[in-house]
Amino acid sequence: MRFRLWRLFVFLVAPIPVGLWLYQAWIFALGPDPGKVLVDRLGLGALWLLLITLSMTPLQKLTGWGGWIAVRRQVGLWCFTYVMLHISAYAVFLLGLDMQQLLIDLGKRPYIFVGALGFCGLLALAVTSNRFSVRRLGKRWKQLHRLVYAILAIALLHMLWVVRADMAEWSGYAVTGIGLLLLRVPIVERYLPRGFALFRRDDKKVSI
Ligand code: HEM
Repeated sequence: MRFRLWRLFVFLVAPIPVGLWLYQAWIFALGPDPGKVLVDRLGLGALWLLLITLSMTPLQKLTGWGGWIAVRRQVGLWCFTYVMLHISAYAVFLLGLDMQQLLIDLGKRPYIFVGALGFCGLLALAVTSNRFSVRRLGKRWKQLHRLVYAILAIALLHMLWVVRADMAEWSGYAVTGIGLLLLRVPIVERYLPRGFALFRRDDKKVSI
């Protein structure tokens, strides 16, 4: 199967940050509130993976290399996994698995509702990411998976609510997200340079 090694590489690399953060927590290298640091890092990791997933199609168009598309679904599922870990870390370390505390927290941190909305969207994409759903949903599959842009907007709003004072970091993610969205606008897409000949299988000449 094509790209098997590449897929395996992505599969092995994606969970490394989580292992590293857990190790840092274990050796007390995450500061006085390791639980909060873990929640934040897993949330940021999920946002990174969402942006990486969205950059796969533009990268494929720019480079002409099919490997980007070969791992797109996997990276999307890793994003979902990071979000699940983000929510689990929140439930264990910040709530102490206390349901009453959750009700108090929902009043204090309304951005959790926004995050939950993003999670529901990601869940819908994750359960329909298999071949069976692609075949069964037909055209509607593509429409459903456009939801990913709404999820990105929701995730950015959720983060903005958390960081508020520190807009610089947030702006970096927002600009990247808007840039990736713009690349999908048909008029912009038309003027995008296509596949560097280096990667194109059908090209005889190799130009850089
Ligand atoms: C039920 C769903 C969710 C819950 C309960 C939740 C909970 C939280 C909490 C409690 C924080 C703030 C921690 C703190 O600093 O006090 C946070 C931050 C964050 N979350 Fe979520 N979240 C959810 C969904 C999501 C989703 C879907 C994403 C992205 C795809 C996401 C990305 C982030 C990011 C980027 C931050 C900010 C991290 C930072 O500033 O370093 N969250 N979340």
